[in-house]
Amino acid sequence: IAVDPFDLVVFGGSGDLAYRKLLPALFQRHSDGQIPPTGRIIGISRRPLSDDEYRAATRKALEEHVPADERQPEAVESFLQRIHFVTVDAMGDAGWDQLAAVLEEGKDRIRAFYLAVGPELFGTICKRLGQEGLVTPETRVIIEKPIGHDLASACAVNDAVGSVFDESQIYRIDHYLGKETVQNLMALRFGNTLFEPLWNNASIEHVQILVAETLGVEGRGGYYDTSGALRDMVQNHILQLLCLVAMEPPAHMDADSVRDEKLKVLRSLVPITETNAASTTVRGQYRAGAGPGGSVPGYTSEVENQDTKTETFVAIKAEIGNWRWAGVPFYLRTGKRLAARMSEIIVSFRPIPHSIFDQGAGALQQNKLVIRLQPDEGVRLWLMIKDPGPGGMRLRYVPLDMSFAQAFKVRSPDAYERLILDVIRGNQTLFMRRDEVEAAWRWIDPIAEAWDHSSERPKGYTAGTWGPSASVALIEREGHTWHDEA
Ligand code: BG6
Repeated sequence: IAVDPFDLVVFGGSGDLAYRKLLPALFQRHSDGQIPPTGRIIGISRRPLSDDEYRAATRKALEEHVPADERQPEAVESFLQRIHFVTVDAMGDAGWDQLAAVLEEGKDRIRAFYLAVGPELFGTICKRLGQEGLVTPETRVIIEKPIGHDLASACAVNDAVGSVFDESQIYRIDHYLGKETVQNLMALRFGNTLFEPLWNNASIEHVQILVAETLGVEGRGGYYDTSGALRDMVQNHILQLLCLVAMEPPAHMDADSVRDEKLKVLRSLVPITETNAASTTVRGQYRAGAGPGGSVPGYTSEVENQDTKTETFVAIKAEIGNWRWAGVPFYLRTGKRLAARMSEIIVSFRPIPHSIFDQGAGALQQNKLVIRLQPDEGVRLWLMIKDPGPGGMRLRYVPLDMSFAQAFKVRSPDAYERLILDVIRGNQTLFMRRDEVEAAWRWIDPIAEAWDHSSERPKGYTAGTWGPSASVALIEREGHTWHDEA
């Protein structure tokens, strides 16, 4: 179904995010007929590009980032007709009149400003949009992480954006929430009766959330070295996944019902401070080793700073202090240059209370529900069954396997396709509310401070492995193992 007519204005229109993600995502939605004929995409940057030059750059971006068999020539041509460009100096005065003139043509449409620029510009751009009278009641603004570097700076960004836009107009993207399998978590939990009665500390022993990457910092060292894995991945993506796993069933699927429940989880996280950070967290930094295409340099040489203490790996034992989850550790782990690209949520159920089988039957393993977010999206439920054959009662651990690629022969859309159209539809369910972002920082800040105050450096790990051995010790101390190495 096509959305209502809109103008999408992309600040940072000639930047990496626009070319790599936003324009390809919009093209896919265009190809599927979801963008109405009058829908326009207006790129903005300081660079002096004409409409034609920007269309040529967009064509190139589609060639690079949309597979050839999904790029019909007529669709590319008609998509390019939607593309416009206005040169605007976000920090100065040049170009705002032209932008106002272009937008005037579509003044009754939905208007969305996508700020695909550094967060230091969010406040300035929003204020200027307000002063120029470009914010109509049907206007939305889209911002993306990093929303701040800590709680205080996140509040400052939220205040600045909030001084011009009402919270109902602000769309804070966490692209993990747009991933198919992440949304499937809600379908799995709340579309089935099977799991909910077991979804608590009586039946679940522990949960693991893993986001492993094989890539390094990929030319983003300048940003990454001031951020690190805790702020880059845990504060947002991993905590959002944790919320979806741990939240109470919302009464409805609407934005505030879902976000209220996520917020309660964030507020129930047991604080990690200087007194317990050493026993509940591990940070690592990769050294030279193996990457996807052969040998790769260590992190310090990639960012050209031998002394950097920035972590490229984090493992955390988190706890949620509420009735449902008390006593159930949530082991969070993410890192760059790990052994595989793999994101999974692993729910480990408690062992059976008593075995009726004799020793010869083999070891009994715990049931596990593994939700694979990427790659090879799917759900696996690990069970004990009888090994077929006449050899007596021998048990085997096997997965009930649901691979999305095999079950559904459809292309899995990129997160941005879903999220951008949700902005136009005015659906905030998959976007982070201000209080969620701030609650997440409130839990992250003391961890970052504890690390800052510690004289220890992040533990080294060889690129292409599963991180420092201290992370194995973190979970094995408690009698569990990381799922990928099990
Ligand atoms: C981004 C981080 O938010 O997510 C990157 O800034 C990271 O460092 C990326 O590589 C991972 O996203 P995905 O969708 O590739 O898992």
